[in-house]
Amino acid sequence: MESELIDDFGRRVRYVRLSVTDRCDFRCVYCMSEEMTFLPRAQVLTLEELATVARAFVELGVEKVRLTGGEPLVRRNIGKLVTEIGALPGLKDFAMTTNGAGLAKQAVSLREGGLQRLNISLDSLDPERFRRLTRTGDLSRVLAGIRAARDAGFERIKLNAVILRGRNDDEVLDLVDFARDEDLDISFIEEMPLGDVSDHSRAETFCSSDDVQAMIERRYSLLPTTESSLGPSRYFRMPDSASRIGFISPHSHNFCASCNRVRVTVEGRLLLCLGNEHSVDLRAVLRRYPGDMDALKEAIVRAMPLKPERHHFTTDGDVQVVRFMNMTGG
Ligand code: GTP
Ligand code: 5AD
Ligand code: SF4
Repeated sequence: MESELIDDFGRRVRYVRLSVTDRCDFRCVYCMSEEMTFLPRAQVLTLEELATVARAFVELGVEKVRLTGGEPLVRRNIGKLVTEIGALPGLKDFAMTTNGAGLAKQAVSLREGGLQRLNISLDSLDPERFRRLTRTGDLSRVLAGIRAARDAGFERIKLNAVILRGRNDDEVLDLVDFARDEDLDISFIEEMPLGDVSDHSRAETFCSSDDVQAMIERRYSLLPTTESSLGPSRYFRMPDSASRIGFISPHSHNFCASCNRVRVTVEGRLLLCLGNEHSVDLRAVLRRYPGDMDALKEAIVRAMPLKPERHHFTTDGDVQVVRFMNMTGG
């Protein structure tokens, strides 16, 4: 069995994002529509299947695993999965992306289970606006979650802020100051056209990373770094702070040429690119050949030539991918 995953463009896959549920206790306006229906349980990978998939990838040379959703913390017994994946030899970076609301309760057990890093979504520091952007979210719970994560020993927690013009672009500097005061990193994200969210016209709310960067540079000088988290962020540092500022710019600074990642959707579809539908049904392999690690690894290796060169997202407001982000694992 090959021990490395390399696609036809010579890109080595070192990072897998596992979506553990399509459910979420928030309904962020850029991610979901107001009335979402969720998948029946039989279609969703079991915790055992998820652990097996993670193990197969790590045995194939993947160094970084990130659990995503939906909201991973609403998956029952997520702590058990974390502990299993956290114990995999060869895994160097084990992370989760969360809305933060469940962290006050779960941060300690996640850390004890071996989870190393957390990215927490935070698009506004104003409680009412936060509620409008998330539709159901309570800002105070997320802030309590961030504190709990720090107290539990998570280091270099990263905030994620999707910036929408006219909705939260006036908060960019406040978010930077919050990150500086709390000693957190923060990434600013350009919205991607996944799913018909119907809340707003994405063409009207598009805000490029260059504009966000210019807003920040009115107050702080940003020094480019070559640091990488193996993720899509381009990082900058400020001279007087440990906080890093990242930009995730799928539209304005395409990063597909250095892509090193694949996703597994909540239904066990190995998705080779966020912006395309090329995929392989790992759930079918898992359920047809239970316990056969070689069959699973072979299916993953064979999928590599399907990885497309790049996405073709545009900012004209059209939905380019009908799949919603919560099904996809971000
Ligand atoms: P780090 O490990 O801290 O670098 O995290 P990350 O940026 O890899 O993960 P996170 O879950 O925080 O994702 C932040 C944003 O980047 C989300 O909006 C993701 O959808 C987006 N993102 C992650 N990977 C890709 C990718 O391969 N392509 C595109 N277009 N967007 C991505
Ligand atoms: N475009 C960009 N980022 C998105 N996220 C969710 N939906 C979108 C979208 N349409 C972000 C969330 C979270 C991460 C997993 O993906 O804010 O931080
Ligand atoms: Fe990789 Fe596709 Fe993301 Fe581009 S859009 S960075 S090719 S997963």
